Amino acid sequence: MSNKLLVITGATKGIGKATAYRFAKEGINIAFTYNSNEEMAKEIVVDLESTFGIKARCYPFNILEPVSAKELFLEIDKDFDNVDYFISNAMIYGRAIIGGYNKFMKLKPRGLDNIYTATVDAFVCGAQQAAKRMKNGGAIVSMSSTGNLVYIENYAGHGTNKAAVEAMVRYAATELGELGIRVNAVSGGPIETDALRAFTNYEEVAAKTAELSPLGRMGQPEDLAGACYFLCSDEASWITGSTLMVDGGTTFKK
Ligand SMILES: NC(=O)c1ccc[n+]([C@@H]2O[C@H](COP(=O)([O-])OP(=O)(O)OC[C@H]3O[C@@H](n4cnc5c(N)ncnc54)[C@H](OP(=O)(O)O)[C@@H]3O)[C@@H](O)[C@H]2O)c1
Repeated sequence: MSNKLLVITGATKGIGKATAYRFAKEGINIAFTYNSNEEMAKEIVVDLESTFGIKARCYPFNILEPVSAKELFLEIDKDFDNVDYFISNAMIYGRAIIGGYNKFMKLKPRGLDNIYTATVDAFVCGAQQAAKRMKNGGAIVSMSSTGNLVYIENYAGHGTNKAAVEAMVRYAATELGELGIRVNAVSGGPIETDALRAFTNYEEVAAKTAELSPLGRMGQPEDLAGACYFLCSDEASWITGSTLMVDGGTTFKK
């Protein structure tokens, strides 16, 4: 997979960062986006290049303005000749999800709409730009979560939009197959990242996850990175339109 390029959104930390490192380890060049952590992103570029001898570049991108994916990819075009893999990973938090991250009776359209924009629209706009550049076929992955299958407190906004993006993945896969492009989702159980630590009931979720998992521990970002890499590799050559659940066995036991 060397001399290939992965474009991934939100790789300053958490699952996105672990995934960028997983691909770089295989000699794949990395174009990744950041939102607020420009300094961190620049440090990651230096580290990826010096550790793995690949070419890495970072770009600002706000998933609340998904149409700007067009400008993002025009910038990427200046640094790289091809796109082989695209992973829609970034997620909003903080003020933008007020009214979206709450109990059912407190949900508000603005918060819910923001999560839709950041989840489904960002996947669609990013994947469209990536697919246009996949001259020799390619693979696209959307990050999803098992919160669309099992109840997680305050997670209705995210859970419903993860269900929506998984449906969008199946539509994209059906129409992009003739271009040799496979499209899949990775649905993660609770993973130890800043996003999860921001949950109001983080301690409870963490303890419950370790208790529910037959493996007796929380998920780590690297657990999802490997699944993303597998789905983009030739080992997954006939897998498209699927959601790969990586939940440490927690969903069945819930
Ligand atoms: N953690 C879990 O339990 C879990 C489980 C299943 C699925 N997931 C999914 O995995 C993905 C990554 O989650 P994570 O837990 O790794 O999150 P995280 O550690 O909080 O990282 C979020 C990333 O998104 C970027 N970001 C934040 N706001 C943005 C915006 N407005 N526009 C563009 N980028 C923005 C951040 O960039 P800056 O740092 O530059 O702001 C950061 O790189 C998400 O799609 C999430 O839903 C997470």
